[in-house]
Formats: sequence, structure tokens, C-alpha cells
Amino acid sequence: AGRCVVAVDGPSGSGKSTVSRRLAVDLGARYLDTGAMYRAITWAVLRSGVDLADAAAVGKVAGEVELRIGTDPRGYGVTVDGVGVDADIRGPEVTGAVSAVAAVPAVRTLLVARQRDMIAHAGRIVVEGRDIGSVVAPDADLKVYLTASEAARARRRSAEDAADVAATAADLARRDRLDSTRTVDPLRQSTDAVELDTTELGIDEVVARLRELLTERG
Ligand code: C5P
Repeated sequence: AGRCVVAVDGPSGSGKSTVSRRLAVDLGARYLDTGAMYRAITWAVLRSGVDLADAAAVGKVAGEVELRIGTDPRGYGVTVDGVGVDADIRGPEVTGAVSAVAAVPAVRTLLVARQRDMIAHAGRIVVEGRDIGSVVAPDADLKVYLTASEAARARRRSAEDAADVAATAADLARRDRLDSTRTVDPLRQSTDAVELDTTELGIDEVVARLRELLTERG
């Protein structure tokens, strides 16, 4: 079983999750949603009641909880200290706090180490996030950076969350700003990533393009 790591980065609403899961199913590969890991730690931080601005306290909570995440692209579960959090980590409280928690260096160090370990044991895996091609798996076989117009991203996210488009657009802009301006591992396109603008493309077209790129690379 050959080793193959595909890194999919990009802002939220770029189609990353849908495309990454589909690609993993097509390839018979594992799938890792690193955003879900940052969300799960955020859930634990909110539950603990520590101040989000207290980086030391946030890092301590992250180091003490037991986070588990599956890698089946057809359905994976996330648990924190044995509690299933799949629904809660998509809620507004976690979404509103996750960028602050993901900016804490101790949280990133911990999760990046976990992610590298999972990738090393997976063989074939599609990994999605913000810093996969640049930090987590710089030696990935294929690095993709998905983008889409702000309007398309807000439309997709609000459809997923059954939320108001204007409110979603404001939230995406806020998270993008926080994610791109933080000092540790900001959202940034690696120079060797293939950029794909998904604004005018359907899921099938994006997945087909990624499979073509993989074939070209042998
Ligand atoms: O992809 P998703 O929207 O679930 O990611 C939630 C948040 O987690 C992002 O806004 C970002 O703050 C953080 N994140 C990160 N690095 C990753 C994945 C997600 O900082 N690799």
C-alpha cells in the first residue's frame, strides 16, 4: 500500500471539506479534518470556563483533554474526554471562539504533532486545514489551495448552516482576518501549492481536477 498524502488548504467556504472527503472516498484513502480538532479543543476550553485571552490557561486545557478523531471519509466521530461533540463543534459558540484558540502557540504545537503522527500511520490520506501544505505535511505528494469568491463562500456556508448570508459573510471575513494575521502559522498559500478557484466549479469538477493532478504526479 503506497504512501500518498494530499494536503488541501484554503479559507472556509472554499469547498475544502466536501472536496477532501469525496477525494478520499474515491482514492480509498483516510481523511483528516484538522479544523474539527481545533474546534474540539475550543469546545473543551469553553466548557472549562477559562478566559479565551489567557493563552497559558487555554494551552493547559488543550494539554489535559483526551481528543479522539476518526479518519473515515464516510463518517468520522470526534470525542473529547469520551463525550461526542460532532454537533456541538459546528455551533455558533465554537465557531465564534475557534480562531482565538487556534492562535495559541501551545495549542498548535500539540495538534500539529498529533496530525503528523496520524498522517505517518495512515499510508494514504487526504488532510484538510489551513497550514497542512506549509507546516503539517510540507512533503505532501500534492498540495492544493482552494479559493472561491467571497460571495460564493458565504452562499455555501450559509446553505450548510441554514444561516443568514449576510451574517455568514461577516463571520467568514472576521475568521479569515484572524486566521491570516495570527503570528503562528497563519493561513497562507504555500508557494508549491496548486491554486484552484472553485467559484464556477462543481464538486465533481474539482475532484476530477485533483485526481488528474495526482495522476500527473505519478
Ligand atoms: O476548517 P474549519 O472552518 O472547521 O476550521 C475552523 C478554524 O480552525 C479555522 O477558522 C482556524 O482558526 C482553525 N484552523 C487552523 N488550522 C487548521 C485548521 C483549522 O488554525 N489546520
